[in-house]
Amino acid sequence: MPWIIGTAIDEALETGVRSALFSLGTLILITGAARGLFAYWQSYLAEAISQKTAFEIRSDLFQKLASDRYGFHDRQNTGALMSKVTADVGAVQRLVNTALLRGASMIATFLIIAIVMISTNWRLGIVTTLFAVPVLWRAMHMSRRLRSTWGAVQRETGNMTTVLQESIAGIKVVKAFGASEHVERQFANRSGAVRDLTYSATKQFVFHGSLMTFIFTCATGAVLWLGAHEVASERLTPGELATFILYVGMMTMPVRMIGWMVNMFSRAHAAGKRIFDVLDSHSEVVDRPNAQRMGEVDGTVRFSNVSMSYQNTNTPAVNNVSFQVEPGQMVALLGASGSGKSTLAHLIPRFYDVTDGSITIDGIDIRDVTLHSLRKKIGIVMQDIFVFGASIKDNISYGVKNASVEDITDAARAAQLHDFIEQTPMGYETWIGERGVRLSGGQRQRLSIARTILLNPPLLILDDSTSSVDTITEYQIQRSLNTIIEGRTTFVIAHRLSTVRQADLILVLEKGQIVEQGSHDDLIKSNGFYRKIHDLQLQPQEEQLAQP
Ligand SMILES: Nc1ncnc2c1ncn2[C@@H]1O[C@H](COP(=O)(O)OP(=O)(O)OP(=O)(O)O)[C@@H](O)[C@H]1O
Ligand SMILES: [Mg+2]
Repeated sequence: MPWIIGTAIDEALETGVRSALFSLGTLILITGAARGLFAYWQSYLAEAISQKTAFEIRSDLFQKLASDRYGFHDRQNTGALMSKVTADVGAVQRLVNTALLRGASMIATFLIIAIVMISTNWRLGIVTTLFAVPVLWRAMHMSRRLRSTWGAVQRETGNMTTVLQESIAGIKVVKAFGASEHVERQFANRSGAVRDLTYSATKQFVFHGSLMTFIFTCATGAVLWLGAHEVASERLTPGELATFILYVGMMTMPVRMIGWMVNMFSRAHAAGKRIFDVLDSHSEVVDRPNAQRMGEVDGTVRFSNVSMSYQNTNTPAVNNVSFQVEPGQMVALLGASGSGKSTLAHLIPRFYDVTDGSITIDGIDIRDVTLHSLRKKIGIVMQDIFVFGASIKDNISYGVKNASVEDITDAARAAQLHDFIEQTPMGYETWIGERGVRLSGGQRQRLSIARTILLNPPLLILDDSTSSVDTITEYQIQRSLNTIIEGRTTFVIAHRLSTVRQADLILVLEKGQIVEQGSHDDLIKSNGFYRKIHDLQLQPQEEQLAQP
């Protein structure tokens, strides 16, 4: 454009205004159309490529999060992870978009204009181009400072999301404890930090950006001043001087954009670092290089001198435990709260790896088979039950592809849930609300039992699975469990005698160690810890149950 206008001015001065302006108009029209066409394709490509990039990073992140890792989440805030998948990926996406949309054309524009200017009049050209040096120097300085500020912004955004996520997930606790003001303050603090830091980052960017633009505005002054000399000494035509001024104007745009780009780059740089923290994190529990798929399982489980310590703790949660269960047998784990019952059970599906000793199933070390195939063999009803915001049917068939309606109802029947489901207006299609809020604690528990039954695993772990049902339901569940555990090696963590006493092996844990082991009769005879628990709390329950 500047070249067309400059040439037209010179032509107009030489040959008359009319024809010059006519050709000027035509040329501008054609150039304008070409520019529009390019702009369209550029926007299209920039959006397509940046969205694809964001999609891939998001997928990679989610894949990493959904992978077989368990212990990883002990050290992570859900909210912070969520903000990484959303806000941080967003920052990277915006950079890719802007870089493609503006970055390449910015550099190209700058270089082409510089070359054209220098070849038109090298003195003026070099003077103008030299102004870019202090601008770039400022840009570098700005980038260093902005990266740390944007890092803090992204981190605080993660903290804010954490408070948000926890408050919403625990909204009932918040309300029950009248803690609204407390969480409001907490959220306001985090949200305020995001505001202040973003403000500070923007202030730095705007200050440096304006400074950069100012430095470059001086170039226009220099061109006019020097250009006047050049025109006076006839080394430059007035048209060429006009071209120069317009070129300098055009160059201001990329220079301004440098500020923008540096700002976006700094933010994306900080966000990218947070994303790679997750992508590069390695799991403590991984498949060995030559791990085999686990085949059919009979169900002999053997613990040999097993110890396990959680990360960053110095006392082992499971300490030198050895025992063996034969196929189809039932093991009951008993012990005070915090004695390591759940931890011990979680070692079997390798939620955590043993720190010492080994666990074998049918004589094969569980670390020699793939995690995926191992976990498929183990059904677990966890202590803290999680159900999804989906229908009852989908919740029961979670993790099982193509489960038939009969299988699902059979599982529900076995878990004593079928009658309840039949009473609901939508039956198996009933939506049970987020985290199963529309179910009672006991119903949720039975739902998770049904889910495990449907999996039909050779090994079963039931962690406190009957603790929040009434005695009658427990009795019913017990009966159905008896048929379910038939032929499966089962680990039960329960506090009720009715469950514990029929176990083939009872392990009494204290501070992660087995203090007593044997059958019910053995342990009653040996008159130790088990006997004490039995007399103190289990017997009255049994008497209760014996009454009609
Ligand atoms: N993810 C974890 N990280 C660190 N320490 C943990 C973790 N989970 C449990 N612990 C600790 O390990 C010990 C054993 O916990 P565990 O959950 O196995 O007890 P438990 O016997 O199942 O108790 P309860 O009957 O209350 O369920 C406890 O002292 C607990 O504080
Ligand atoms: Mg437990």
